[in-house]
Amino acid sequence: MGKLFIEGGKPLAGKVEISGAKNSAVALIPAALLADGPVVIENLPRIQDVEIYTEILRDMGADVLLEGDWIEIDGRSLRPMTMPNGRVKKLRASYYLWGALLGKYGEVSVGLPGGCDLGPRPVDLHIKGFQALGARVENKNGVMSMKADRLRGARIYLDLVSVGATINIMLAASRAEGLTVIENAAREPEIVDVATLLNNMGANIKGAGTDVIRIEGTDRLRGCRHTIIPDRIEAGSYMILAAAVRGDVTVENVIPKHLESVSAKLREIGATVVEDDDSIRVIGRERYSPVDVKTAPYPGFPTDLQQPMTTLLTQVKGSSIITDNIYANRFRHVDELRRMGASIKVEGRSALIEGGTKLVGTKVVASDLRAGIALVVAGLTTDGITEIDGLSHIDRGYENLVGKLRKLGASAWRETTTPSNAMKGDNSDGTQFDA
Ligand code: UD1
Repeated sequence: MGKLFIEGGKPLAGKVEISGAKNSAVALIPAALLADGPVVIENLPRIQDVEIYTEILRDMGADVLLEGDWIEIDGRSLRPMTMPNGRVKKLRASYYLWGALLGKYGEVSVGLPGGCDLGPRPVDLHIKGFQALGARVENKNGVMSMKADRLRGARIYLDLVSVGATINIMLAASRAEGLTVIENAAREPEIVDVATLLNNMGANIKGAGTDVIRIEGTDRLRGCRHTIIPDRIEAGSYMILAAAVRGDVTVENVIPKHLESVSAKLREIGATVVEDDDSIRVIGRERYSPVDVKTAPYPGFPTDLQQPMTTLLTQVKGSSIITDNIYANRFRHVDELRRMGASIKVEGRSALIEGGTKLVGTKVVASDLRAGIALVVAGLTTDGITEIDGLSHIDRGYENLVGKLRKLGASAWRETTTPSNAMKGDNSDGTQFDA
C-alpha cells in the first residue's frame, strides 16, 4: 500500500529530465525475444511495468540483466510455456507476448491482459490480425492459445486505429513468410520505435509512422542495441503541470515534434511554449482562455493526457469541454477532482468544465495511471495537502515522480504502509515500489 502526499502552493520552476517512453519499453522488451541473440535496450524507464515485464521474461526462462537505465535480454534460453494470469494480468502490454512468441515459436498461450481500467478494452483486432497470418486462436477460460504451422504474410485492414494491434501484428509478421501489409495502422512514435528495433534486428519493415506498414518476413533476427525514444506522455504531463501552477518548467530530452498537439493546446490557452532542439519550456500565465479538447490517435491530442488536461482546465476561468474519442469511460478522475472543489459535469464522452475555482487539498484516490497524474497536478495547485491513495498506479508509468517534482520546487513525499509498520520516505532514487 502506498500514498503520495502533495503540499501545494509552491512556485515551480526549473528543468526536468524526461525518461524513456513507457509505451515503447513495454513493446520493445517482448520484441527482443524475437532475436536469436542478446538485445540491449537503453534509456529504459525504471517503472513498475518494466519491472513486471522483466519478471515475466525471467519466469519464462529468458536471460535478463537489468541495470540502471538499460536491460539486456537474451531469449535463446526461453521455454515457451503457458502463462495463465498472475503477472500477465498486472499490465495491459503483456499482450505483446502473443505477437512475439507466435512469431518466434508458432505458438503461444498467455492470459488476457490487465492494465488501467478504462472501460471495455477489447483485443478483437489483435486476434483478427493473428488469424489473418494463419494462426488458430482459442480463448480457453481467459488464456489465449494461438498456434500456426506456418505464419504467412497477409493484407490486414484494421477497422479501428489501434496501437496495440498494429505493434502485435508487426511482431508476428516480422517472422512470417512473405509480405504483410497493415492498413489503417496507428502512427504513434512508439510504433516507429518498435519498427526501428526490429529493423536493427534484421527485419524488413517500411512505412512505420504512416497508416500503411509493410513487413517482409524473415527467418532469423539477430541481437542488437537500441535506445528508447523519450516519453512524450511523461513530458506532456510536466508541461500541463507547469501551465496549471503558472510555473516555468523546461522538459529536457524530448522530441518536440511528438508533442505538437500538446504545445498547440497550451498556446491556445495562453501559456508561452518555447521549443528547442530537444527541450520545451512552458511558462504559465495568470490569465488563460477556456478551450475545447478532443482526443484522437497520433498526431492528435493523446487520450493519455486527457486526464491531467482536465485538471488544468479547472484552473482556466470559463467553460471548457474535453471529449475523449478513444475511451468512452476515461473519467474516473472527475469524481476525485470534484471532491477537491472542481466544477465538472460528464455527459457521454465529454467532460464539461466550469473552470476558475480554487481546488482544495483533501484525500483522493488514483483509479488508474493517468488519473493519478491528474490528481498530482490538482494537488500542486492547492494551498493545502493532498493525500493520493493508489500510488501503485502512478508507479506503473512515472519514473522517480517525487524526485522530479522536488527538483522543480514542489513539496511531495510518499508513505509506504505495511500491515506491521508505517514508513515515511521518498522515492528520489525512483526504485521503491509498492508490492
Ligand atoms: C495504447 C497505450 C495507451 C493509450 C492507447 C491509446 C500502450 C501500452 N498503451 O493502448 O497508453 O491510451 O494506446 O492511445 O501502448 N480497440 C478495439 N479492439 C482492439 C484494440 C483496440 O476495439 O482489438 C479500441 C480500444 O478499446 C480503444 C481504441 O481501439 O477504444 C484504441 O486502443 P489501442 O490503440 O489499441 O490502445 P492500446 O494499444 O491498448
